[in-house]
Amino acid sequence: MNYKEKLETDNIPEHVAIIMDGNGRWAKEKGEMRLFGHATGVESVREALTAASEVKVKYLTLYAFSTENWNRPKAEVDGLMDLLVNTIANEIESLNNNDVRLLTIGNTNDLPESCRVELLRAIEKTKDNKGTVLVLALNYSAKLEIKQAIKNIATKYKNGDIELEDIDDELIHQNLYTAGIPDPELMIRTSGEIRISNFLLWQLAYSELHFTPVFWPDFKKEDFYRAIYEYQTRERRFGMIGEQLNEPE
Ligand code: IPE
Ligand code: IPE
Ligand code: MG
Repeated sequence: MNYKEKLETDNIPEHVAIIMDGNGRWAKEKGEMRLFGHATGVESVREALTAASEVKVKYLTLYAFSTENWNRPKAEVDGLMDLLVNTIANEIESLNNNDVRLLTIGNTNDLPESCRVELLRAIEKTKDNKGTVLVLALNYSAKLEIKQAIKNIATKYKNGDIELEDIDDELIHQNLYTAGIPDPELMIRTSGEIRISNFLLWQLAYSELHFTPVFWPDFKKEDFYRAIYEYQTRERRFGMIGEQLNEPE
């Protein structure tokens, strides 16, 4: 089935987030090293980004490295950091040619110096691009994000800058890494795992979730379109009843 052709162009999610999972198992199935799976996964990043741009998804957030991922064997962590540096350096030109802007969420200050330098360069060089915004979640933890937001807000309260009544959804949003970015309407996780793994806990409150058994290195544009196609068949009720959604305004 050609899912792209079936998409309703007026119901494309503005923000799609993806937990890119299954690189290690994909490699193992092929008798290869885990790092080969990660390197091949870069192809799928291109697929997802191109697909998102083609159907005009404004924000594509990719979960690339969690704070928990530091607990992996050192060789794998080092390999992932090298892959990150090289990929960003190699892709800047292509990001610019495709009008893609790069942003990051997560505690990027704690990434190795070479990663930080490369990321800052790419963010600066793509900052005026007007197409899809690629948001990389790096050294990311949703619980840490929420904890930092609470501390920021508590400090503002303590300093008398805000009243208790000022603490609303909007203020919390403004204190998250994703300040200014709308919540994802759709979250995809590959590799068959059915869990959130500390990703965007606040922002996913009302997202549609799409789980696919496909390992990330096998993820293609069609898989992305299929997820959007299925999203478009969902009824997003936000606590109401179906009949209310079809009432004329
Ligand atoms: C996702 O693939 C990439 C990262 C977490 C960096 P995994 O490396 O988790 O692959 P599996 O889940 O072990 O197969
Ligand atoms: C989540 O995948 C993190 C990323 C995709 C970067 P993991 O493979 O680390 O998650 P768990 O440990 O299986 O939950
Ligand atoms: Mg995994």
